[in-house]
Amino acid sequence: MIKNSHEFDYLIIGSGAAGLFAANKLAAHGSVAVINKGEFSESNTWYAQGGIAGVMDAADSVDNHIADTLRAGAGLCHEDVVREIVGCGKRIIEELIAYGTAFDTEGETLHLSHEAAHSHRRIAHAKDATGKAVGEALLAPVTANANITCFQQHMAVDVITARHLGRRMQEADRCLGAYVLNPAGEVLRIAARHTIIATGGAGKVYRYTSNPHVATGDGIAMAWRAGCPVMNLEFIQFHPTCLYNPSGSTTLLTEALRGEGALLTDADGRAFMADYDERGELAPRDIVARAIDYEMKKLGCDHMYLDIRPLGSEKIEAHFPNILKRLIKLGIDIRQQPVPIVPAAHYMCGGVQTDIAGRTAIQGLYAIGETACTGLHGANRLASNSLLECLVMAEQCVDFIGTQPKEPLQHLPAWDDSGVKPETERVQIKQNWEEIRAAMSNYVGIVRSDERLRRARRRLAIIREEIAAYYWQHPISRNLIELRNLSLVADLMVRAAQQRKESRGLHYSTDHPDMLDKTEDTILTPDSW
Ligand code: FAD
Ligand code: SIN
Repeated sequence: MIKNSHEFDYLIIGSGAAGLFAANKLAAHGSVAVINKGEFSESNTWYAQGGIAGVMDAADSVDNHIADTLRAGAGLCHEDVVREIVGCGKRIIEELIAYGTAFDTEGETLHLSHEAAHSHRRIAHAKDATGKAVGEALLAPVTANANITCFQQHMAVDVITARHLGRRMQEADRCLGAYVLNPAGEVLRIAARHTIIATGGAGKVYRYTSNPHVATGDGIAMAWRAGCPVMNLEFIQFHPTCLYNPSGSTTLLTEALRGEGALLTDADGRAFMADYDERGELAPRDIVARAIDYEMKKLGCDHMYLDIRPLGSEKIEAHFPNILKRLIKLGIDIRQQPVPIVPAAHYMCGGVQTDIAGRTAIQGLYAIGETACTGLHGANRLASNSLLECLVMAEQCVDFIGTQPKEPLQHLPAWDDSGVKPETERVQIKQNWEEIRAAMSNYVGIVRSDERLRRARRRLAIIREEIAAYYWQHPISRNLIELRNLSLVADLMVRAAQQRKESRGLHYSTDHPDMLDKTEDTILTPDSW
């Protein structure tokens, strides 16, 4: 018989870079459960190509890295957070090496690549598959640690707080654990003294995304339902160069390719980036993605091209072997021909409002990594700063939790499914997924307007109403939970975009094309209980 109630000192939801780094460190303080709704290797982390930013070269400086981060963030970064996180780059890269990450080297030193909006070469990388190398190095000690229990194919449904249990709170609410759906379709209770949400981003809110299918914004939705404010959700980073593949999923073409000399062109081979920015191909992502979008609309075409041939076959084979292999399988030899590309949703700069230690508005509940918003990225993330943020947040979160008294574990009530009727129609789930993605892609993309946002909001309201009616009457499944979360996060993104009456960084509105002199973070707060 499956045990449907568990107790741990610490519960970590998600096993990307943030979750795994935290698990390794928390195991020294007590028992840890790490849950993942799929395979442990299915995460944004595993797909990261370019690398992790850190100042490793004597010609560079932390001040340069800080200045580049602030410039990309378009006046909205929290400078204290930038200083703290960027200042950890070198040490974190060295720690990853100690965990066994095989970064590329040149003789005795690391080979550093160049990415857009970085003034210096400072990206440590493992060829063009850095995320997999980091993920594997962090996962091995997690699976070998007797203090850590791994639950694959287990999906967090919601976190449980004292208020959920009907307790009246004098002070801030407290998280007591989570409800978790197991592969048999049963909802388990996991009680924990501290719960860390490390569930990554929400790229699946869009039709075209570089993210794997697990990126459905679950952590943001769970934290919001628990009562946590969210911050800056209007800033969705579109990666400029994702493979245009209308008949299948896309694949990222790392920015490091442009760092080494790849060019953005139209179908006639005309390189167009110099028309938009003096930094050309190495302008920040928001500028490059908008330029591609503008060219596509001007020429009435579905995609532009990335011409990688200027790098030469030798460099392509040595530095980008995985991209080369993957595209050859799709019939494109990047040594011989330009690649059709489109911008695709890539990274959420916003998320659950936290400090660097991941603390949320609820005691005992933390959000770390892409699911959180610390203020590091401001209105646009500098490439390769996010893996760094995941790891620094995980470290600081554990340092904080390690100083906390061990609160008693609480009894959690069983999941209430008394309203569930036998399932009738699953078709509604598929239909709603498609409608959400269509609304977000058509109305909340790279270029927005007041009318487009209003349309998105109206459509999402109808979809959310249908999902709410369906949710409590049907047996829950991974699809249904993801749909509910995705629809909530999409709605929050639109609400945040409607609040920003200017164009800044990744948020561009044709009705408000200028950047205001004064600005602030967009903070949405759940209705009080
Ligand atoms: P993730 O790595 O996404 O892990 C989240 C995990 O949580 C997943 O395994 C997921 O299955 C699990 N999960 C989600 N919901 C639930 C739930 N309800 N219950 C249980 N488990 C759940 N950044 C860089 O700095 N450098 C790069 O080179 C780079 N390249 C990138 C390339 C690609 C293609 C992509 C998509 C992103 C890239 N990024 C890069 C961004 C970076 O990879 C991510 O921001 C970072 O890895 C996020 O890590 P994380 O630990 O927060 O979340
Ligand atoms: C890339 O390799 O282009 C992605 C880097 C990032 O998103 O940080």
